[in-house]
Amino acid sequence: MIFETVATGGCRSYVIGCEDTCAAALIDPELSQIDRYIALAARHGLRIRYLVDTHTHADHFSATQQLGRQLRVPVVMHSASPAPFIDLRLQGGELLIVGRLRLQALHTPGHTRDSMCLCVEDRVFTGDTLLIGGTGRTDLPSGDAGALYESLFEGVLRLDPALKVYPAHEYKGRSHSSIGQELAENPRLQKSDRKAFIEMMQNLNLTMPTHVTEALRTNMTGGKTVDQMLSEAAATVPFMSLGELKACLGSGRDDLVVLDVRERDAFEEGHISGARLLPRGQLELRVNQELTDPTKRILVYCEFGRVSTLATATLRQMGFHGAVALDGGMKAWREAGHAVKAGKEP
Ligand SMILES: [Fe+2]
Repeated sequence: MIFETVATGGCRSYVIGCEDTCAAALIDPELSQIDRYIALAARHGLRIRYLVDTHTHADHFSATQQLGRQLRVPVVMHSASPAPFIDLRLQGGELLIVGRLRLQALHTPGHTRDSMCLCVEDRVFTGDTLLIGGTGRTDLPSGDAGALYESLFEGVLRLDPALKVYPAHEYKGRSHSSIGQELAENPRLQKSDRKAFIEMMQNLNLTMPTHVTEALRTNMTGGKTVDQMLSEAAATVPFMSLGELKACLGSGRDDLVVLDVRERDAFEEGHISGARLLPRGQLELRVNQELTDPTKRILVYCEFGRVSTLATATLRQMGFHGAVALDGGMKAWREAGHAVKAGKEP
C-alpha cells in the first residue's frame, strides 16, 4: 500500500494507492490542494482512479467535482449525499476496488446523514464520524446525535481495535490513532449510555465553522466558490500595476480608456482623473453605447481589484481584447498617495 496524508489546516486528505497496479483513491480532497494531489500521485507513479468524499463537508471546499472533471475519474459518495455531480453512490457494505485494495464503505450517519467510513486493510478512514479524541459535531444540517451514537457504538467502535484511525480532521498534528485507543481514551466515547451521549452532543455550544454557508452551497450543489469565480476570471486577464498606470496617465497619450466599474456615489467621492464611469452591474447592457471601439486599450478598476477582475474578464469575452485589470484598486491607489479627483463625470 502506498499512503500519503495531506494536511490543509485542520483538514486531512489521504492518497491510498496499490503498489502492484499503481491505481489509487483520493479521500476528502480540498480545493486549494489540487496541484499537490496530482503531483503526489505522480511522484509515487500512481493514477488516481476514484475521488471520495466521506460526507458533505461544511467547513472546507471539496475538490472532488473539479478533480473529477480534470482527471476524468468518478466522484464517489454515500448514496444519501445530496450532491448532483456524484458518479458512484455507495451503500453501506459495498466495496470500491482500487487495484488490489478493497475499500469497504460503512454507512455512519450522525455528523451528516451521508457520512461514511472506509475500511481498507489495517486502517479505517473515519471522516468526521470519529476523530482522534473527539467526534464530528451533530449540530450542522442533517446532523443527528442519536444516529451518531448508533454509528459509533454499534458500528465503528465494534471494528477490530487494532485498526488504525485516520480522520478527516486533526488539529493537533497526530498522524492517526486506533479504534482501541479511541475506545480507551476518547473523552466523548466514555458516555456509552445513548441518552447521556445525545445530551452531551446537544450541549457542546460550538461556534460555526467559517465559510459554512458557502461550503454547504458548493459541496451540495457542485456550484463554484467566490474564490473559484475570481481565480478563473483572473486566469483570463492581464493586469496593470499602479505604477504603470500612473506612468501611462502621466505620458500625456490618450490611447487608454480608464474605466471605473464602481457605483456612482463611490466614483463621485473620488476617482482616477479622466476615468469614465460604467458600473459593473450595467456593464453588459451599456457596453455598446459606452465603448464603441473594441480595439481600444481599456484599464478597468474598482475599489479592491476583485470586481474589476470579473468585469475585465467579461469585457474580454465580449471581444474587448485590449481590456486589462488594475492590480489593486482605488483603495490601493489612494493609499499609494496618487491623485484622486472628486465630482461628477465631465
Ligand atoms: Fe465534516
